[in-house]
Amino acid sequence: MRVAVLPGDGIGPEITREAVNLLEEIVRLFQRNIEIQYGQIGGAAIDEEGTPLPKATLQLCRTSDAVLLGAVGGPKWDGQPGHLRPEAGLLALRKELGLYANLRPITVFAGLEGASPLKGELLQDVDMVIVRELTGGLYFGTPKERRRSGQEWEAVDTLHYTEAEIERILRLGFEMARQRRRLLTSVDKANVLETSRLWRETAERLALEYPDVTLNHLLVDNAAMQLIKCPSRFDVIVTENMFGDILSDEAAMITGSIGMLPSASLSETGPGLYEPIHGSAPDIAGQNKANPLAMFLSVAMMLRQTAGWAREADAIQSAIESVLAEGWRTEDLGEPGTARLTTSEMGAKVREALAQYA
Ligand code: NAI
Ligand code: MG
Repeated sequence: MRVAVLPGDGIGPEITREAVNLLEEIVRLFQRNIEIQYGQIGGAAIDEEGTPLPKATLQLCRTSDAVLLGAVGGPKWDGQPGHLRPEAGLLALRKELGLYANLRPITVFAGLEGASPLKGELLQDVDMVIVRELTGGLYFGTPKERRRSGQEWEAVDTLHYTEAEIERILRLGFEMARQRRRLLTSVDKANVLETSRLWRETAERLALEYPDVTLNHLLVDNAAMQLIKCPSRFDVIVTENMFGDILSDEAAMITGSIGMLPSASLSETGPGLYEPIHGSAPDIAGQNKANPLAMFLSVAMMLRQTAGWAREADAIQSAIESVLAEGWRTEDLGEPGTARLTTSEMGAKVREALAQYA
């Protein structure tokens, strides 16, 4: 497997260094062949090449099997015009790679329940994935403009989906559910929106191909309530771009710890992009304090989704669980009385634990 590694800015290089160490340990323990090549993105690329997404980086990503990204951004570049901001590099990369599906698994790790704003009993058995459509819908439909209407301004955004776009994301939802607890919740607003009615009809049609998966539909407003009321009822949630944007942030807060959440963005045939959901954390950058576990879990998703190496992915997951169960914490997770590890110490602990699952 060829992996393009883009460390980026802030804590990005710190967590990425540990992720590469982890990959090297996977190579050693499981006799896998992983080829790593580095590329620049974000503020680091602006400083050295004058653009947040250099052509060479895009080319590297296109010719790799997967992209592993730290984080981009920081106060240093905040005053820059839009196209010279680090975030523009990430947005351009997502678009260029055609990453139509964003996957966010939400799990609560044993011992970390205290970080959640929800009551402990609600967190039992929370284990879901949100599959969000990422390249269509209200954020991209045209017309999208502001225009004069008599004496005042008016503005229009367009919610547009083709049946093919809907089918593509729903199919991924069914496939994911098939690999998990076989329960797919399709979230829409079919009582009001025509795109949602097409969405629901397409889901019903596909369900005939997946008789082993239980499909149910939820209206988005109800879904927002159910996520808080009973988060353990969900397995895979599939939804359109804007609903997914909102619901995935809501769901992320169920666990309460941003340093623990990975994500994957997938395209039809090209490389997938794997990254933690958090940003570059400028407030702790350069201090060897960042929690590398969201990045490690992103590595596990990469091995599972892109390479199909379930055993290696499971081993990373188990190693993290066992390190947490022993009470080891980075500073962001630390309750009083627990041992605080640096980024590199946590990396070493997880690598050490990995051997018992090889
Ligand atoms: P952030 O996620 O970087 O930080 C929010 C808070 O969480 C901070 O207090 C930070 O110290 C803490 N935190 C984040 N990740 C952590 C980790 N792994 N371990 C321990 N603590 C962690 O979000 P913020 O502060 O809103 O944005 C900072 C910069 O990151 C901005 O320039 C923003 O544009 C960028 N950003 C980049 C993203 C990406 O590369 N995908 C996503 C979100 C923000
Ligand atoms: Mg969002």
